[in-house]
Amino acid sequence: MTATAWQPDGLGPNLVVHADNSEFLPTLPDGAFTMIYVDPPFNTGRVQSRQQTTTVRNADGGGDRVGFGGRSYDTIKGALHSYDDAFTDYWSFLEPRLAEAWRLLAEDGTLYLHLDYREVHYAKVMLDAIFGRECFLNEIIWAYDYGARAKSRWPAKHDNILVYVKNPKKYHFDSAEVDREPYMAPGLVTAEKRERGKLPTDVWWHTIVSPTGKEKTGYPTQKPEGLLRRAVTASSREGDWVLDFFAGSGTLGAVAAKLGRRFVCVDQNPQAIDIMATRLGHVATVVGRPAAGPVETPVVEPVETPAVELVETPAPLFDS
Ligand SMILES: C[S@@+](CC[C@H](N)C(=O)[O-])C[C@H]1O[C@@H](n2cnc3c(N)ncnc32)[C@H](O)[C@@H]1O
Repeated sequence: MTATAWQPDGLGPNLVVHADNSEFLPTLPDGAFTMIYVDPPFNTGRVQSRQQTTTVRNADGGGDRVGFGGRSYDTIKGALHSYDDAFTDYWSFLEPRLAEAWRLLAEDGTLYLHLDYREVHYAKVMLDAIFGRECFLNEIIWAYDYGARAKSRWPAKHDNILVYVKNPKKYHFDSAEVDREPYMAPGLVTAEKRERGKLPTDVWWHTIVSPTGKEKTGYPTQKPEGLLRRAVTASSREGDWVLDFFAGSGTLGAVAAKLGRRFVCVDQNPQAIDIMATRLGHVATVVGRPAAGPVETPVVEPVETPAVELVETPAPLFDS
């Protein structure tokens, strides 16, 4: 990918860019985007090398745990070192990219960072440092309902989306544009209110991308358009530029095009670029697409939860 002379003015084309975002983002001008949505790969290294704890019998009773039958044990922490390494690597990967997101946001701009419950607390601390605590707007919970249910703890059925604004005095947020939800107890409100529905809160119930629906692209980590539609309508206006630099199947671009926003979608995975070329090629210029060559083994990101199995009817309050 060569540096572009891309400017967010005039009627420049929407872009789908094949590049490592750490190389491409520095070519973009400051303050160019009203909204940035990113859904980075999860910290899979960390998940894969969990801390291993082994206990051994302490003969003289001086250990730090008391086990079954009152016996005393020492605790040996096994793979903590590699756990720490993976963790550090992940955050040193993400942090400079989030700092770029801050630079690229306009004064009235907003960042949506999509993570899961294992990462979100660390990311909150990191974004507080990059943006400032006063720039934290929301933590959105995307609640869904599919797959098996753990019996040994509360089954985790949500993702977390952190929302930060560049300037808490100037940010754009238009709740009047956002789709509304049905009241839970419609009998308790007037017909007029029932008809209008109510404003969504920070908990968004939404089905996953249906394995048989028309939205499905085949990309393993594809997110539903309904989620992104809410974020884009609230945090940008028609004609504004929006950016996703972990774009995958290009869900942000698809929503932006339908809502009259202009977009830049970046991904380093050739399969993602192929899918985006099909999904967005009619409304965007595709830059740096690798020439068709020998078929490579597809790079499929590990997914920590089954992304396509609906085992029971979810209870969404709205559908995409
Ligand atoms: C979780 S997926 C995004 C899915 C997307 N939200 C969608 O709806 O399809 C994360 C994406 O980040 C991309 N990615 C990872 N590291 C990258 C990098 N350094 N530069 C650009 N893209 C990267 C991966 O190829 C993957 O497509």
